[in-house]
Amino acid sequence: MVLDLLIINATICGQKDLVQIACKEGKILEVAPKIESSAKETIDAKGFFVSPPFIDSHLHLDTTLSMGMPRFNRTGTLLEGIRIWGELKPSLTPEAIKERAKKLLYWSIAKGNLAVRSHVDTTDESLMAVNVLLELRREMKDFIDLQLVAFPQDGVLRSKNGMALLKRALDMGVDLVGGIPHFERTMDQGKESIRLLCELAEQRGLMVDMHCDESDDPHSRHIETLTHETQRLGLEGRVAGSHLTSMHSMDNYYVTKLFPLMAEAGMNCICNPLVNMNLQGRHDAYPKRRGLMRVPELLAAGINVSFGHDDVMDPWYPMGTHDMLEVVHMGAHALHMTGVDQQAALFDGITFNAAKTLNLENYGLAPGCNADMVILQASSRQECIRLRPARLFVIRRGKVISRTPETRAIINLGFGDTNIDFCL
Ligand code: FE2
Repeated sequence: MVLDLLIINATICGQKDLVQIACKEGKILEVAPKIESSAKETIDAKGFFVSPPFIDSHLHLDTTLSMGMPRFNRTGTLLEGIRIWGELKPSLTPEAIKERAKKLLYWSIAKGNLAVRSHVDTTDESLMAVNVLLELRREMKDFIDLQLVAFPQDGVLRSKNGMALLKRALDMGVDLVGGIPHFERTMDQGKESIRLLCELAEQRGLMVDMHCDESDDPHSRHIETLTHETQRLGLEGRVAGSHLTSMHSMDNYYVTKLFPLMAEAGMNCICNPLVNMNLQGRHDAYPKRRGLMRVPELLAAGINVSFGHDDVMDPWYPMGTHDMLEVVHMGAHALHMTGVDQQAALFDGITFNAAKTLNLENYGLAPGCNADMVILQASSRQECIRLRPARLFVIRRGKVISRTPETRAIINLGFGDTNIDFCL
């Protein structure tokens, strides 16, 4: 048998020695120290680390790369970001949204991200962004899995025709039901929005991913309602709470009640360290709160946590290249997760845990999984986070779809060239 692709000299998790990875017809056929079959293409990984592809669990593709349009966010706050977005909205065109979103997906692929869950604003009467992102999902489907969440940015109850527009977006083919309960007019309306949206998801057999408690308000507890509705409607494992930043400020005793309920409901939590480190705590005098969900404690309670980039160069976040290793690098610091095992858990948050959140099938490096992987210029998960190194090869269904050359500094202090390699 002739393989389509054979990767040799690969370092993978859980194997002390180098392995070879055989790919045929878009699937991984075998992972072993030595594979005898010949292959149409062979890649020498040179001992570098091979990972399943990275997954972004939370992105806003419709706002991406719009930074500076029509003006820059001078205060860096969420509220100024919302105002700027409102100013840009009337002049948005489908062509411009598509061009920016497509460019971002190219960046994603170059960084080894082969699945992205993106929210798309459904509170615009024309549903222009919904149309554009559905089209892009079709065009890019052979290269990247794009899940779309119907996201009522201005509140499903607070905005005019919010529910009707959201339903129309789902009719058009958007995959998940979203929400933003903390932005509804009152706490009660927030609760009501969660009930209605979860019922809608249950009726249509869809997953749910809500922006939830994205504030520094210790009393914002919509995650409790989302957990309750998940259990009431039998949606266990199919619901995600995104952001959950108020959890940072919640009363500690209350959290001891909340976490077991979230675990029972199979709640998925999506943490966005880059953006929430930027946006939260803005109203605080010193000391300023970090405003991230309690990731180490959630993991200890058996709750699935994955990570999102959230924004890339838009009114809310002026930085980023859509590198998920940058996201967990920030997480390692901001969440106090620099321990060796904690870094491994962060890496899971952009790979296996994220695959669970997105409900992806055939994910991983085991035989039978999709032949999707990334070869990085590093030797371990921890080194990937430390270096955020070159993604040497990005492979989708057994085909190389992106390459980045190895990077090395060449130092010359007058004694001849010395190659500097930052790997251990
Ligand atoms: Fe978000």
